[in-house]
Amino acid sequence: MRPKIRVLPDYDALSLAAAEAVAERLRAEPEAVFLLPTGITPLGMYRRLVEMHVRDGLSFAGATFFNLDEYLGLPADHPASYHVYMRENFYGLVDADPERVHVPEGAAPDPEAECERYESAIREASGVDLCVLGIGRNGHIGFNEPGAPFDSRTRVVRLAETTRLVNAGDFEGGRAPEKAITAGMRTVFESREILLLASGANKARAVAAAAGGEISESVPASMLRRHTNTTFLLDREAASAVEETG
Ligand code: PGA
Repeated sequence: MRPKIRVLPDYDALSLAAAEAVAERLRAEPEAVFLLPTGITPLGMYRRLVEMHVRDGLSFAGATFFNLDEYLGLPADHPASYHVYMRENFYGLVDADPERVHVPEGAAPDPEAECERYESAIREASGVDLCVLGIGRNGHIGFNEPGAPFDSRTRVVRLAETTRLVNAGDFEGGRAPEKAITAGMRTVFESREILLLASGANKARAVAAAAGGEISESVPASMLRRHTNTTFLLDREAASAVEETG
């Protein structure tokens, strides 16, 4: 199986298409449950969603939001935490209900219990309607690095060294944490709809491996090919290797 692939001319068009997919789901189901990414890629999508809120009155008040991951050990007010990222780029700029916004607690005293709590909260919300993902250069989704079991749930993981290097710039002293809490592969897979966003030439190989190579735990995003409602939303550069392999 191949996922549906939509290729957009550039990052702006990609961001708008992603925001429209979220907005469309919200208009159809104002109480929809979302599982959302952080990183550079979704910034344009969040900017567009904030615009839709301010300009067109798109409301997020009835929706429930979960985030894919958080660094282990970071308190919610740490500048490199995904709590801060999400507040500054999205939740704090729209009318999201703080009671319905969930980000894993990186500094929870008992991380294993936090993972179980998080997974149960997703289940109690009746699961995820729309999951938006980025993709790492190594094919990771969330912080599910190569080798992540396809049946994994929310858990503590060790970050790949390449991931820590790519993200090092977000940390004073240039060292990213060694571990994180991430929604699992199975947690992601059970979403009713999945949208994977990728932009730029440095994602082309990972995208091609995910979209066309073997389905294997060594390329986490390849699991999405078993999902019946997944779309890869790519800009031209991210799609370049996919198109070559047909
Ligand atoms: P990026 O991260 O959007 O910052 O490239 C994507 C990811 O690692 O999942």
